[in-house]
Amino acid sequence: MGSMRVAVVGATGAVGREMIRILEEREFPLDELILFASARSEGKRLSFRGESHPVRGLDDGWFKGVDLALVSAGSGIARKIIPRAAAGGTVSVDNSSAFRMDPSVPLVVPEINPDALGGHRGIVANGNCTAITALMPLAPLHRAFGLRSLVTSSYQSVSGAGMKGIRELAEQVEKLHGQEETLGYPDAAALPVGDVFPRTIAFNVIPMCEEFDPGGTGFTTEELKMGGEIRKVLGLPDLAVAATAVRVPVAVGHGVSVYGRFEARVTAEGARETLESASGVRVVDDPSAGAFPTPLDAAGLDDVLVGRIRQPEDDPHALMLFAVGDNLRKGAALNAVQIAELLARPAASA
Ligand SMILES: NC(=O)c1ccc[n+]([C@@H]2O[C@H](COP(=O)([O-])OP(=O)(O)OC[C@H]3O[C@@H](n4cnc5c(N)ncnc54)[C@H](OP(=O)(O)O)[C@@H]3O)[C@@H](O)[C@H]2O)c1
Repeated sequence: MGSMRVAVVGATGAVGREMIRILEEREFPLDELILFASARSEGKRLSFRGESHPVRGLDDGWFKGVDLALVSAGSGIARKIIPRAAAGGTVSVDNSSAFRMDPSVPLVVPEINPDALGGHRGIVANGNCTAITALMPLAPLHRAFGLRSLVTSSYQSVSGAGMKGIRELAEQVEKLHGQEETLGYPDAAALPVGDVFPRTIAFNVIPMCEEFDPGGTGFTTEELKMGGEIRKVLGLPDLAVAATAVRVPVAVGHGVSVYGRFEARVTAEGARETLESASGVRVVDDPSAGAFPTPLDAAGLDDVLVGRIRQPEDDPHALMLFAVGDNLRKGAALNAVQIAELLARPAASA
């Protein structure tokens, strides 16, 4: 692509705002930035490279003249607007789950499977934030030791549910301020419950993200995405994956506890060495110095932090670790901009 017009769709959202920031930070080679959101946001202005840009509502011809669209407005909107944009010649990188499992759409994590981008047909899917956080350490470990099965438990921040998730946690913390001591015997009827999370999220954890699988498996849709996306990105269609997803009262940063079994024998030290040379991963793992990663350590960073690397007793093929990534950056906006950087290279843009 030569002179490039880039659109951010969902520019006012938690991910969209981060995209604008990352395009600026990484000096993405664009000539014009066009910002879209819902009609509610028309008239708002957002800053990019020191200039204020208007936010526009989407209309039928929004994609005309747009070379590349970073779309982050939910799967319903993605399904409605992206295929038409692709037919009109606009390449979209979509953050929603709408196209991730479509066999004709590449699902790309640039450090892991950049070659998948080669065959795109105008739509590229960006992965789920928790799947990307888990994949960043798992891909190099898979290359070194051969991943065979996986059990994960994720601790997902409220920003995973967008701006409204952050607002709901903040409101509930405010409402319960001063009542912390009574929470040992809570008055269930008086606990605040909002529109985003099915229970009180302040001072609590909720063992479900998104919704329960309509297929009746007992898993949530968020948990099913983990298996599907990890299999697709690693090219392991038969990988056994069992995921649990829990919402925690953290603003930004998803943590994932990983238990993996490998074909080859593996040691904690060998895994640490492998991860120390992996791009986009930072090992924070020194029990003797009390070093381990937390969401507040990962917030605002590009790297996924990995610690608590250890081996369960009596299983030389198994490994456990705790990975934490900024769900708005590597889990969403950064990964999308990295894909856009690959697309902007002439050889990959066909
Ligand atoms: N948050 C994460 O950690 C994360 C990570 C990976 C992927 N994702 C995915 O990224 C997408 C956006 O997530 P988010 O967390 O940024 O959500 P969000 O904070 O709720 O933002 C949603 C964005 O979509 C816009 N939008 C809503 N309805 C629209 C419409 N009819 N037409 C045009 N724009 C519309 C909103 O505009 P208004 O402000 O005008 O309403 C806002 O800019 C979702 O598909 C989500 O699953 C999120």
